[in-house]
Amino acid sequence: MNPTVDLLCAHRSIRRFTDEPIPDEHVRTAVAAGQMASTSSAVQAYCCIRVRDPESRAQLAELAGPQEKVARAPAFFLICGDTRRHRLICDRAGQTYDQKLEAFLVSVIDASLFAQNMVVAFESMGYGICYIGGIRNNLPAVKRILEIPEGVYPLFGLCVGKPAETPVRRPRLPIDAVLFEERYCDDDAVTSIDAYDAQYRDYLASRGAEPRSWSESIAHRMTHASRLNLGDFYRSQGAVLD
Ligand SMILES: Cc1cc2nc3c(=O)[nH]c(=O)nc-3n(C[C@H](O)[C@H](O)[C@H](O)COP(=O)(O)O)c2cc1C
Repeated sequence: MNPTVDLLCAHRSIRRFTDEPIPDEHVRTAVAAGQMASTSSAVQAYCCIRVRDPESRAQLAELAGPQEKVARAPAFFLICGDTRRHRLICDRAGQTYDQKLEAFLVSVIDASLFAQNMVVAFESMGYGICYIGGIRNNLPAVKRILEIPEGVYPLFGLCVGKPAETPVRRPRLPIDAVLFEERYCDDDAVTSIDAYDAQYRDYLASRGAEPRSWSESIAHRMTHASRLNLGDFYRSQGAVLD
């Protein structure tokens, strides 16, 4: 199609990396590209914390699963929604920061767009990435290890490095299952994904994982709630979630 679309369509998460270090210049280029993502009213409600300290990385790796790649990837970032700067600016202007759920949502959306732009930039430079939702297993510990202040919401981690594996691409739903015209489609059409279910089962089998259809994976995952204390944590960081 074109090199940008080809790059996007070639994405797969990378979970094993070579030891090759990432030059700071590449990191700064990727972060600058991340910053150019659209941001709600230019509030730029995000930051990322690069964690280099081996002890911190080992602790984060442990609480994220354990997931060894968090300790071993050449670079690891914690991606955060960030309202702290906004709060400080209001304080210093002698005004009261007064935001509700919208501000939390904006920070999550802004941080996700920032991170994905950063990811695409890294991938365009030949790096592989893996997002790490596992850090939400224990956010109070993440806060303690990295001394995260009020107003900052750790959302997910990001491992980056030169790939030491070439995994098969994970298939996605057919385009017409996510691209609707004018109206949301009817429930039968939403769940008519037999061909995709078969393709997904084959994909898992090819990876040596337990072969399950996508629908089976979803039925398993969505009937077991996880990470039950996230609301309490984000509220304790200053978010209003009502
Ligand atoms: C926010 C987020 C959190 C994720 N957390 C993890 C994680 O903790 N560990 C992991 O191995 N993969 C993680 N992933 C990677 C997904 O499993 C992966 O993107 C998905 O299965 C699709 O595969 P692909 O990226 O190879 O196309 C995460 C992805 C996202 C977007």
